[in-house]
Amino acid sequence: MIEIAPSLLCADFARLGEVTAELAAAGVDRLHFDVMDGHFVPNLTFGPLVWQALREQTSLPFDAHLMVSNPDDSLDRYLGTGADWISVHVEAATHLHRVVEAIRQSGSAPGVALNPGTPLSTLDEILAYVDYVTLMTVNPGFAGQSYIPAMTGKISRLRRLVDERGLSIKIVVDGGMSPRTAPEVVAAGGDVLVSGGSLFGGKGMLAENAAALREAIELGLRKRRDP
Ligand code: DX5
Ligand code: ZN
Repeated sequence: MIEIAPSLLCADFARLGEVTAELAAAGVDRLHFDVMDGHFVPNLTFGPLVWQALREQTSLPFDAHLMVSNPDDSLDRYLGTGADWISVHVEAATHLHRVVEAIRQSGSAPGVALNPGTPLSTLDEILAYVDYVTLMTVNPGFAGQSYIPAMTGKISRLRRLVDERGLSIKIVVDGGMSPRTAPEVVAAGGDVLVSGGSLFGGKGMLAENAAALREAIELGLRKRRDP
């Protein structure tokens, strides 16, 4: 089952509670929280207070995407806060294995995220310890950017790598996901599509945008089955 993960960065922050209910009604599968520290990426967003405020509103899984420098030192402020999934950037962690293990020990599913320019080889020694890999398909820091087409090849290479090693790892594709880009991303092996600008933007209502994305995902699944 391919999942839709709205990036709450694009939600109306004055209505986060209602938006969460609207997203659940629209049939999304998990909520994606973009934590940015203004240092690892040139933008500053929010911390655990936001998803803690929403925790009682929904049973949807929460995915905290930590775009923060040196997560080794700041990790404790994210553990045990209600995030079911927590990813850190391979480019940011000094002791990546220790950070991943600490996330798992805390009861959350650990993941690692890679910027577009970071090679898959950086995953060699950590892949066996994570539940998901988030491939950034835009340069992190802002929503509303265009998908980097070369990332489709990176997604299919990671899919092959995960399947060859017999690992049950979800491939999260983060950046520029829309009905236009979803088919090729799903056909290449993406499992979870993070969507911000496309899902919250445009003319359509959330439910309509989610339905259009779901339709594009189905097209991608047909392409994956019958290339
Ligand atoms: C970018 C974030 C993404 C982004 C997704 O740094 O990690 O989650 O907000 O938004 P769109 O779908 O507009 O690229
Ligand atoms: Zn993200």
